[in-house]
Amino acid sequence: MKVSVLGTGYVGLVSGVCLAEKGHHVCCVDIDPDKVEKTNRGVPVIHERGLEGLLKKNIGKRFTATSDLRKAVLDSDLSMIAVGTPFKGDEIDLGYIREVSKQIGAALREKSTYHVVVVKSTVVPGTTQEVVLPVIEEFSGKTAGAAFGIGMNPEFLREGVAVEDFMSPDRIVLGGIDARTLDVLEELYQVFEGVDKIRTTPKTAEMIKYTSNALLATMISFSNEIGNLCTGLGDIDVVDVMRAVHLDKRLCPILPDGRRIVPQFTTYIEAGCGFGGSCFPKDVKALIAHGKKAQQPMALLQSVIQVNEQQPRQIIEILNKQFRSLKGIRLAILGLAFKPGTDDMRESPAIPIVNELAAAGASMRAFDPVARTEAEKILGTRQITYCEQLSDALDGADAVVLLTRWDEFAKLPELLADREPQPLVVDGRRMIDKKKLRRYTGIGI
Ligand SMILES: NC(=O)c1ccc[n+]([C@@H]2O[C@H](COP(=O)([O-])OP(=O)(O)OC[C@H]3O[C@@H](n4cnc5c(N)ncnc54)[C@H](O)[C@@H]3O)[C@@H](O)[C@H]2O)c1
Repeated sequence: MKVSVLGTGYVGLVSGVCLAEKGHHVCCVDIDPDKVEKTNRGVPVIHERGLEGLLKKNIGKRFTATSDLRKAVLDSDLSMIAVGTPFKGDEIDLGYIREVSKQIGAALREKSTYHVVVVKSTVVPGTTQEVVLPVIEEFSGKTAGAAFGIGMNPEFLREGVAVEDFMSPDRIVLGGIDARTLDVLEELYQVFEGVDKIRTTPKTAEMIKYTSNALLATMISFSNEIGNLCTGLGDIDVVDVMRAVHLDKRLCPILPDGRRIVPQFTTYIEAGCGFGGSCFPKDVKALIAHGKKAQQPMALLQSVIQVNEQQPRQIIEILNKQFRSLKGIRLAILGLAFKPGTDDMRESPAIPIVNELAAAGASMRAFDPVARTEAEKILGTRQITYCEQLSDALDGADAVVLLTRWDEFAKLPELLADREPQPLVVDGRRMIDKKKLRRYTGIGI
C-alpha cells in the first residue's frame, strides 16, 4: 500500500520506517525541513535502537521523506496523522491536528480516488469524528464515507524499544467510521500476522489508548505513594514489599512446573522518582480535562498527577536529610532522559530535580548515554557539567544521584568499589542491589 505519514517525530518516523520494512511504500512528511533533510540522508532525528539500520535499508527504495504534504497525500492511498497533541493551558491542544486536517482536506479536493485518513496521534475521545472529519470535509468539499474514509489507530510503542514494539505489536486497534475504512486498515496491517486486531469505532479506539496510559500511570503513582509511606514509617524497604506483592499469582502466575511468568506489567509496580515523557503526564491531564467537560470529575487520576508532580521532591528530601546543606555539595547525576533507551527529555523528572539542586547551590556533573544534546537544550550548560563517561561524572562526588534506569548504571558498585571517600548513592530508580554498596539510600527506604 502507498502510505503518507504526516509528522515525522518519534511516532511518525518509527511507524513510517517500520511500515516500509514490512513492505509498504511510505512517504514521511514534516514541516521541519531539517528533519526531512536528515531523514533523507538516513540520519534518524531521534535515538531509537535499530531505527538507523532500518531507515538506511529502506531509504530511496520503499521509504522517503518530504515537506510537500499535498504531493505525499495525492501519491498515497492512506494518510496517517502522527503530529503532536500537547497539553496546553487546561486541555489538549489540537492545533496541529486541525492544521494537518486542513492540509489533507485541501489535497483531497484534487483527488478523484478513494482515500483513507487515519489518526495515529493520541487524541481525546470524539476528536477523530468531531474535529478531524468535519475539517477534512470542509476543506476537501467531499463527504466522509463516500470519497474518503476516516479511522483512528492508536500507537502503543514505548520509547527506547519503539522499533521492537512497532514490529512486534501486542495488539492493533483499528477504529473506523465504516466497514470500508476498517477493511483498508486491516489490509495495511495484514503484514502483522497473528497479532490480535480489534475492529471498533474511532471513539472507542481513542478511549483504549487513554485507558492504557492512565492505568500504567496509576500503577506508578500508586507504587510511589506506597514507597513514600515506607520511607515515612521507617524500617521498611519498598523493594522488599513490592517483591512480595509481585509474587501474587494473579500478577505473576505459577506454571505447572513451578516456574513463574513475570509480566512486564510488574515493572510499573515499583517505586521511583516519577514518570515523565511525552505521553503519560500530558495524556492523563488531557483525560482529566476531558472528563471535567463531560461532568465526570476524575478524582483518582488527579491524584495520580499530584503524586507524580511531587515525586521528584523525594530526591531533594533524601539529600537534605543526608547533608547539612546542599550548597557546594558535589553531585554525580546519572541519567537525564525520562527513561532508558531514549534521548527524550520531555517532562523528565531530572528537569525539576536538577533545577532545584542548582538553585540550592549544588555542583553537578552529569552523565546520560544518549540524552546529552537534548538535556543541554533544556537544562543549559551553566549549572551542570556534562561528562562523556560514566566514571568521569563520579569524580569527586559527595553523592551519586541515579535518575534513569540505564542498564549500564548497574555496574556502579564495581565503579565505586575502590573510591575513597565513598560517595553516597541515592537511587531514584531502585535498580542497584543495596547490599552491594557501602553507602546507599533511595526512594522508598
Ligand atoms: N512518543 C511516544 O512515545 C508516543 C507513543 C504513542 C503515541 N504518541 C502520540 O503520537 C503523537 C506524536 O507524538 P510524537 O512523540 O511523535 O511527537 P513529535 O513532537 O516527536 O512529532 C510530531 C511531528 O509532527 C510535525 N508536524 C507538526 N505539524 C505538522 C504538519 N502540519 N505537517 C507535517 N508535520 C507536522 C512536527 O514538526 C514533529 O516533527 C502524539 O499524539 C503522541 O501523544 C506518542
